[in-house]
This record gives sequence, structure tokens and C-alpha cells, in this order.
Amino acid sequence: MCGIVGYIGYREAVPFLLQGLKRLEYRGYDSAGIAVLNGTLSVVKQKGDVAKLGEAVAASHADGISGMVGIGHTRWATHGDPSDRNAHPHLSMDGSIALIHNGIIENHAALRTELQQHGYLFQSDTDSEVLVHLIDHLWKQIPFIDFESAVRQALSLVEGAYGIGVLSSREPDRLIVARHGSPLVIGIGEGEYFVASDAAPLVEYTRRVVYLADGEMAVLSADGFSLKTIGNVVQEAVVTELDLELDEIEKGGFEHFMLKEIFEQPRVMQDVMRGRVLLEEGAIQLGGIMDMLDELRMARRIIICACGTSWHAGLIGEYLIEEFARIPVEVDYASEFRYRSPILGEGEVMLVISQSGETADTLAALRLAKENGVKVVGICNVVGSTIARETDCGIYTHAGPEIGVASTKAFTAQVMVLAMLALALGKDRALGPDAFLAALGELASLPEKMQRTVEESEVVRGISGEYTWAEHFLYLGRGYNFPVALEGALKLKEISYIHAEGYPAAEMKHGPIALIDEEMPVVVMVPKDASYWKVRSNIEEVRARKGKVIAIATEGDEEIAGAVDHVLYVPEAAAFVMPLLTVVPLQLLSYYVATMRGCNVDRPRNLAKAVTVE
Ligand code: AGP
Ligand code: GLU
Repeated sequence: MCGIVGYIGYREAVPFLLQGLKRLEYRGYDSAGIAVLNGTLSVVKQKGDVAKLGEAVAASHADGISGMVGIGHTRWATHGDPSDRNAHPHLSMDGSIALIHNGIIENHAALRTELQQHGYLFQSDTDSEVLVHLIDHLWKQIPFIDFESAVRQALSLVEGAYGIGVLSSREPDRLIVARHGSPLVIGIGEGEYFVASDAAPLVEYTRRVVYLADGEMAVLSADGFSLKTIGNVVQEAVVTELDLELDEIEKGGFEHFMLKEIFEQPRVMQDVMRGRVLLEEGAIQLGGIMDMLDELRMARRIIICACGTSWHAGLIGEYLIEEFARIPVEVDYASEFRYRSPILGEGEVMLVISQSGETADTLAALRLAKENGVKVVGICNVVGSTIARETDCGIYTHAGPEIGVASTKAFTAQVMVLAMLALALGKDRALGPDAFLAALGELASLPEKMQRTVEESEVVRGISGEYTWAEHFLYLGRGYNFPVALEGALKLKEISYIHAEGYPAAEMKHGPIALIDEEMPVVVMVPKDASYWKVRSNIEEVRARKGKVIAIATEGDEEIAGAVDHVLYVPEAAAFVMPLLTVVPLQLLSYYVATMRGCNVDRPRNLAKAVTVE
């Protein structure tokens, strides 16, 4: 869950470690720490963010926190509260080994008891600390073994998920990293190596990277590295060229990453479609899944598994694929799917959707499907992520790095990919040539419509100012806009901490209507589509109970203004692309309400960007 960085080479490690942690802070931010090796190990770690760590490091500079080998960590606590003593790195009792860990050591309690019997004293409540004592114990106990073997032996005894970085003053010229379930990337420089949980901290230093596969361990020194499995089998390192620009991971003049990412969406839509939606040829080309297109078309059922916002995209995918390709689709929370004896059989294909490509539950669902002989197609944003690598084939969303913890552009990119997929599956089958071409035209005209929608941000800001007092919000929509209602509610609760619920508009009368009074703002998606008048009736039901209505309506629908408290207009579009427009004012509404309430929208409390624990 957390962010890990490491450095070994010829320059001072601290600047890279701190800057790298800053870039990874979205992954976890309840404490941060670094360890640097210079004869002995120096550690600075504490509760709080990386900026605070930077101040502490500067303050301790007089004592010499300097060295050319180092590791760093930002934590998202799983075991033990966020505190100074639970911050990583953790040290062995004699201070000769330092370790950072991302993930969960599941058998930590048994190992802790055993180590305590050998006289080990623990300084923290974390599961991670057992690993540093275990390495120390094995290194001292087993005759003639070196640092690398001690780490290897220790890892063979732990159960759970980890990405680790380890240093020792007993073998000061090496940095050891290993992964099982949590991501790690090695950046290759000239006479230096960088390590990080994802590529963001590396771009300024090198474009040549090696993604560690599950079960691999690398021993790095300034002049080279070896790559083996944890079981000691030599592996060939595959060097990949990074395709990531620095300004893609910086704020570009916006106050927050989230706002920048909302505004990027029209461009992202173009990037998603580039080379795939071929207007002139009248075709959709999805290179990544070409070999599986027929199997997908013939599928008896498509099972979509995802979590959170990606699950909402999956729900829209269900509507899209059933409408255009006439293939039955089931959408499941990955966390439920994996534990509910799902029926998996011949003719079924799984589709997993994940921005990070590291979500533990989604990964487990994918693995379960594969174990049962079901092919898995991935829709991921992070290139080279675990899910992207473990799926049989897939389609990248190309939304660029999403730093804001609340997902925005990754969601619309996922929906766009699903729309392209549904149309590609339906072409020449359920979908005739004219309808297919008309749908392509709808996709092609979307970026410009989305641009007009984000440009209405000031209107959204004005309305947001009137609702900062609210304690509850209800979101309603039908058809393609029902999942948008869920997504709008999730966005608001994630970043403003206001309780919000999304419902299919017609379900309101079956329960939630009991909540409506003058203190209940209700956001209703009411574009001019087949269910327009039905939703208008739902609005009347809300108004009759004094609820405040914010309508998301189609441009030109002037008449609705008299029937609601506020209207936010989106351009006219076909029903199937409408979610890509209606979600934008909802993202902006959450953003403005949250910032006006003084919330940290890029790093909301208790959340992390990549949920690598189940
Ligand atoms: C989105 O705003 C959330 N922070 C969260 O629900 C997220 O969508 C979920 O954890 C799934 O993540 P993934 O897409 O990286 O798999
Ligand atoms: N389980 C470890 C802890 O709670 C690591 C958490 C993380 O990945 O940040 O300290």
C-alpha cells in the first residue's frame, strides 16, 4: 500500500529518497522515514508527511544523515497505529540492518513469538518488524551465510504480501529488494540504481527500468545487479523504456492534482481513442485484445470484476456490452467474487478493471478465474502493473498517472474503453453498419463536448458554495446514469466526508424517500433520454417533500429550470456517452464542496491510491 524508494550509487542518496517519497506520497501518508548507510545506518522517521520528514532530516543534518546508499518509505498502516515508532524503516536490535516493507506479513504473530523466545525485543506494533529480526536471526544462526542468503531464507518463512528494501552495515555495498504481491521497479542509471514502488520517482533520473515480477529478488550494488527468484533461480532482467513525462506527474498550475485531472479529461478521451477509433475506416481497432476478440464475441457470459470507482465503470460496461453486443454481463465486486464460490465455466471470459493495476481483491479475482481456466482481459491504467501483466490480454486506458486519490480521469477513460469494446464486439453482429458509424461519430465528438462541460466549472463552484453545510446528499439517475449516481456519491464522501448515497431514481420511493426534507440536497441526472419524464416525476416527489434539487440536464432544456433549485447543463449526446458528460459536474461539485470545507482533496483521510491489501 505504501511507497518505497531506494538508491545505491555515487551521489548523496537523501535528495532522491525525499523527492521520490514525495512523488509516492499518494500511496500512503501516515508516516515517513529514511535510512542511509555511511559506515553505520542513520535513520530518520516519524509520524506525518514527507514534508515534515524533510524538515526532520534537515534538522539532523549536523549529525550526518548522508551516504550513497539508502531506503525510504511512506506508510499506510495495516498493523499498529500511525506513530513515530511504527514508521518504517525498522532496525535490527544492533542497528546493523534496516528494512522497509509494503504489504502484510500474515504469519507475523507466530514469527514474533518465536523471535521473542530467542531474545528479540520489538520496538513497534507492525507486522513488518518481524522481518528485520528474522533476517538478523538467520544471518547470525546459520553458519557462513551472507546477507543475500539471510534475506532469502527469511522470505521463505514469511506468508503474505511484500515489497521490501533492506540494507546492512555488515555488507554496506548492497541494497536488496524483493517482491511478492507489492510492486517494485528498478531504475537503471550509469553507476547507480534507483528503486521505487512505481515509475513516478524515476523519470527524472532514468528511462530504463526493470519491473520486478512476483517472487523475484534483486541485489543491487553501484556497479551492477543480479536478479533471481526468491528460491535462488537466476532470472533474465527485461529492461523496459519508460514512456512518461515529468510534467505528467506534476500539478501544472492547478491547485490540486484532482482538479488538474478533472480538466485533463477531454484530452484523455482523445488519448484513449487515438489509433483505436478510426473514423475514416469506420472501424475500432483494439490491438491489445485482437487475438481474443472472437472468443469474447462468442462468450456465453462476461464477468466484470473490479472495486470502487472501477466497479462503477464496470456497471456502465454492463449496460454498454448488453446493449451493443448482446452478450450477458455480470458485474461483481472483486472482494465478493473471490469468496463466494462463483460458477466459472466454459465460454466465460472475465474482464477486470483497475486504475492502479495493483488492487489486491481484483488481482485475487483474476487469479481465481485463471485457475479455473477462464481467460481474463484487463482494463488498466498503470502500464506494467501486476494486473496488466497477469491478464491474458488487455486494453490500457492511457489516462496518464492519476495522482489524486479520488479517481476522475481514470474513470472516464475506463468508460471510454468499455464503450469502444462494446462497439467492437457488437459491430457486424447486433450492431448494424449505420448504427455503428453513428456511434463512432458520438465518440469522436465527445472530447469537445467534455471540454465545454469542464469549462462550466465556475457555475459548479457557485452552486457548491450553497451546500457546504450539508451533512447528507442523495444522487439519483437511471439507465447509464445510475452508475454515475453511485460514482457521484462516492466522490463526495471520499473527499468531503459528507455522507452520500447513489440510487436508481425509481428506487427512491422504495426507501430513501423517507430521508428527504429541506436539509437533503438531491442531485438528479435528468438528460433528455427515454426515461426523461419518469425522472422528472421523481424530481417532483423530492420537491413535494422540500428536498433541494440540483439537476444535471441537457443543454436547451430551459423548462427544467423552473422545476428544480439549480441546473447544471451538459451538451446533448447519445445516451451511451452521456455518463462521460454527466459525471464531470459531479466530480467538480465534490471537489469544490470539499475544498470549501477545508478538506485535503488529493489526500483524503483513511484512503490510499492503491489498495494492495484485501
Ligand atoms: C476511487 O476514487 C477510489 N479511491 C477507489 O474506490 C478505487 O477506485 C478502488 O480502490 C479501485 O482501485 P483500482 O481502480 O486502482 O483498482
Ligand atoms: N504492514 C506494514 C505496516 O503496517 C506496512 C504497511 C504499508 O504497506 O505501508 O507497517
